[in-house]
Amino acid sequence: MGEVLSQAGMQVDVVPMRQVQDLAPYGAAVLGTSIRMEKPLKEAVDFARRHRDALARMPVAVFSTGLFMREDTVENREKTRGFLAPLLELVANPVDVAFFAGKLDHGKLNFLLRFAAKHDKTGAMEEGDWRDWDAIRAWAGGLSARLL
Ligand SMILES: Cc1cc2nc3c(=O)[nH]c(=O)nc-3n(C[C@H](O)[C@H](O)[C@H](O)COP(=O)(O)O)c2cc1C
Repeated sequence: MGEVLSQAGMQVDVVPMRQVQDLAPYGAAVLGTSIRMEKPLKEAVDFARRHRDALARMPVAVFSTGLFMREDTVENREKTRGFLAPLLELVANPVDVAFFAGKLDHGKLNFLLRFAAKHDKTGAMEEGDWRDWDAIRAWAGGLSARLL
């Protein structure tokens, strides 16, 4: 996304949210979070709360990654929108909200989660990479005009 927006002529910093102290130098923001246990990351919600006023004064786009979106259905979009609610409630009028499929690497899970993933019979914790880079690039490409 950062590359695509740069190619569109924007000056872009890709930064972990907890490292951002001040949004004053920025004219727009793209906030992303994975979904864990049906919630956005705490880091993302804390960021949106901390910078709520600044975000309200600039164009903001929001995206999530999650495994529900392995299948892009109306039902899974609505579920994912619900998971994102704690973040979306803090962003007044996002220019766009996107739900992408993510990836799961069992090797990166802690012991308990790896155990849960191994014994999960629903397929919800199946290992794999479902990121659709064309869809991600296309979304970023369409965003630039709305962020300017
Ligand atoms: C502990 C855990 C809980 C998860 N819960 C959800 C969930 O509730 N809904 C969903 O769509 N995806 C869920 N996922 C899938 C992640 O959102 C997906 O793997 C994402 O790409 C992970 O990115 P991250 O490793 O940067 O957090 C979960 C993954 C993990 C490891």
